[in-house]
Amino acid sequence: RIAGPSGLVIFGVTGDLSRKKLMPAVYDLANRGLLPPGFSLVGFARRDWEDQDFAQVVHDAVREHARTPFREEVWQQLAEGMRFIPGDFDDDTAFKQLRSAVEELDASRGTSGNYAFYLSVPPKFFPKVVQQLKKHKLADAQEGSWRRAVIEKPFGHDLDSACELNAIVHDVFDPEQVFRIDHYLGKETVQNILALRFANQMFEPIWNRSYVDHVQITMAEDIGIGGRAGYYDGIGAARDVIQNHLLQLMALTAMEEPAAFDAASLLTEKLKVLRAVRLPEDLGRHTVRGQYAAAWQGGTKVRGYLEEEGIDQASSTDTYAAIKLQVDNRRWAGVPFYLRTGKRLGRRVTEIAVVFQRAPHSPFDSTATEELGQNAIVIRVQPDEGMTVRFGSKVPGTSMEIRDVTMDFAYGESFTESSPEAYERLILDVLLGDANLFPRHQEVEESWKILDPIEQYWATHGRPAQYASGSWGPAEADEMLARDGRSWRRP
Ligand code: BG6
Repeated sequence: RIAGPSGLVIFGVTGDLSRKKLMPAVYDLANRGLLPPGFSLVGFARRDWEDQDFAQVVHDAVREHARTPFREEVWQQLAEGMRFIPGDFDDDTAFKQLRSAVEELDASRGTSGNYAFYLSVPPKFFPKVVQQLKKHKLADAQEGSWRRAVIEKPFGHDLDSACELNAIVHDVFDPEQVFRIDHYLGKETVQNILALRFANQMFEPIWNRSYVDHVQITMAEDIGIGGRAGYYDGIGAARDVIQNHLLQLMALTAMEEPAAFDAASLLTEKLKVLRAVRLPEDLGRHTVRGQYAAAWQGGTKVRGYLEEEGIDQASSTDTYAAIKLQVDNRRWAGVPFYLRTGKRLGRRVTEIAVVFQRAPHSPFDSTATEELGQNAIVIRVQPDEGMTVRFGSKVPGTSMEIRDVTMDFAYGESFTESSPEAYERLILDVLLGDANLFPRHQEVEESWKILDPIEQYWATHGRPAQYASGSWGPAEADEMLARDGRSWRRP
């Protein structure tokens, strides 16, 4: 899987994402020999830079954030194909220059007219950039070559805005030309969900309502919002993480086997799950949102959300969200899926826990199994990538006592191959035209349909509950599960 002749144009090249993820990913791909020799990188931003200044910025970003070692010859080859276009998004001259740069690179580097345009810009600029690409004939490929648009989240902030955005993008690009980034799908452990389920025989037979009691999907972060107040306030945890990352994880966990491992089949199955999702009737009892409060976290006193720079004192933005969903189909009827995410929680961890029902009968007396939990399969998405299976085992000794033990699979121990960074994988897929790991517009719209009623409910019902930074979220979230006779895992 090596990309053919091509180039990448990044809009918003001065942003954080570009510096920390995109530039290093391009270099790492080149270093692994996965890019064609003439690969070209074009930056577009409102900066008074020459090509060399841009190359220097990329160089620094690569030195700081790349995963693979720095090799001068790889860098040199890449740097020769770097161009910078100064300008803002309604500047026609800049887009004309972009067009000439692309033509010049086709001639000098052999990029063959194959270009991906990466919109790493705030959503308010999407329409403008897309329209400019159309106006300057950058969106249509000549016969035999391709043009693609890569769009970063967020895809709207509710269903209406997402539909509007999709309409604008599809006015210029065909659905097959559009690659929406959900970087969770680029993670090795997330791709492994399907391998685990469908390349093996031992999991699928029990992966259903007859054996599963419930599923918990957690994406916890120990960091706060950092310098992202402008983006985060008014958006919140549910829109930032549940609508995209967690609903995608849920879809992969709950979906049926796709007819083939291709984008269309994956879309069909994921959509079926998302369309079968049912919200609880009483949203007050089955959803919780929270906001972190000042506390000591890991030996440092950290600020509460409302004291963060740039946050409105009266903000009711959620930095924690927990929701209960049902999937109304034959496989999952009656099995709750609990999704939670939050900033400033106990530790950084993402996992999917499939928790099984208790054994229907036990021949042992109840003192033997007193401490026994429920069997569980835990897919550890990050940081400790792998999988844990939890089950009961006899404690060595003269009496019959049964306790939980775990069986572990760790990537680091089983494989010597290193995982590419999510963005590396996704950028390569864009260049290859492989859309398997990119949510389509229908999925995005379905996800907003799930989240919108919850957001609307929250907007008219009080304020988020407070939780201490470094804790596992508000007490209300524990109560929410306790009412169902369950409890959250403490990963
Ligand atoms: C992003 C969110 O999509 O994912 C951030 O906008 C969050 O708020 C980030 O911090 C987490 O990504 P990862 O890969 O570090 O789990």
